Amino acid sequence: MVYDPGKIYRAALIGCGSMGSYCMDELLDAPGRILLPFGHAEILKTHPRTRLVAGADPDRGRLADFGERWEVDALYSDHREMLEAERPEIVAIASPPDFHAPQVVDCAANGVKGIFCEKPFTTTLALADRMIASCRESGTSLAVNHTRRGDPLILRSRRLLDEGGIGQVLSIVATWPGRLFLSGTHWFDLVNYLAGDTPPAWVVGHSEDPEISMVAIPTQRGRDLGGNLYAVYPNGIRAFFNGRDSHAGYRVEVNGTQGVLSIGTTEVRLRKTNSGSVFRELLEHPFPQMMHHTAPMVYLLEDLLEAVETGREPLSNGITARNALELILATHDSSRRGNVKIQLPLQDREMSPPFQWQNPDGSTFYSATAEDGSPPTDDS
Ligand SMILES: NC(=O)c1ccc[n+]([C@@H]2O[C@H](COP(=O)([O-])OP(=O)(O)OC[C@H]3O[C@@H](n4cnc5c(N)ncnc54)[C@H](O)[C@@H]3O)[C@@H](O)[C@H]2O)c1
Repeated sequence: MVYDPGKIYRAALIGCGSMGSYCMDELLDAPGRILLPFGHAEILKTHPRTRLVAGADPDRGRLADFGERWEVDALYSDHREMLEAERPEIVAIASPPDFHAPQVVDCAANGVKGIFCEKPFTTTLALADRMIASCRESGTSLAVNHTRRGDPLILRSRRLLDEGGIGQVLSIVATWPGRLFLSGTHWFDLVNYLAGDTPPAWVVGHSEDPEISMVAIPTQRGRDLGGNLYAVYPNGIRAFFNGRDSHAGYRVEVNGTQGVLSIGTTEVRLRKTNSGSVFRELLEHPFPQMMHHTAPMVYLLEDLLEAVETGREPLSNGITARNALELILATHDSSRRGNVKIQLPLQDREMSPPFQWQNPDGSTFYSATAEDGSPPTDDS
């Protein structure tokens, strides 16, 4: 495609729930650091290079609210009808994870140029393979909202590592309060990014007991299992993933030969070894100036548009998202088989993580089995 910076894309949304349409309601007054705007409708409506023209959701109440909120008239209960009738060029997918695969495939088959798909990418490696292959066949750019890849703190951290700011990276420890799949996917993806984006050669995992971990948490959209993983990357970096429900907070600690980078949700702390001391104590250093302050989802959308126009892969793409899913699956696989060492890539492409999505009313659960994109039924 010829690069045209003045081009405005026809954009549509599949899944008009919180992340798709109204999460800003909850985030505007939330304490903590969050760079706004956040949420797909908000960025597609306000970005100068996209025009939000349509939305699809089987829940008619949410669909109507989306239409009113964002002044969109073209509303559909079935995303396939929307794709055929509206021919959008950019589509954001913010439905539950079970539906991402069929919806990505449908978008690719209907001439969509760029897809911005929510995390977790999908539920099996076979489905991930199909999503990536469909987009390759149709020339569709596929971006995944592993939001931290667009965060200015993370991008500056990655550059600092490239510049040798803490010497040679030896190990990375990621700690988060939550489970492996629904929230953990962000941390598996982030560590892969910081480790250089070549998947680990082998791993050893330990998932939580389902009796303890498979319970609903009011603030989360589902039931999922926590756990731990030890991973050895081909470049020599070793990583520890530490996702247990009751952890006090989030952080990623990158340990190098000459310093430590501690990445939290609101700040990054840089400490370097006092080389003049036999005790090698760590001394505080200022974190470098940021390169930009763009909100992460806006950064990833702009990155997707550039990918559409140049043919390069988006920064957060189908392959990086499949790599994160593979680590989640490998944790469970190793754990099930007595915490054995698992060589990657995984040969079994059909296994799926134990999780159940929670619908917006908090009452109905269905399991990760739907492959045809049909909405869940009352008794499922
Ligand atoms: N990147 C992030 O930081 C972040 C944060 C929250 C949620 N998410 C992800 O966003 C996605 C949606 O999460 P949410 O919190 O908005 O959930 P939600 O339940 O609020 O919204 C999901 C919406 O999808 C609709 N839906 C169900 N089946 C559908 C179908 N077949 N086609 C179209 N729409 C369908 C539902 O009716 C609902 O309105 C999930 O994948 C979730 O993991 C990402």
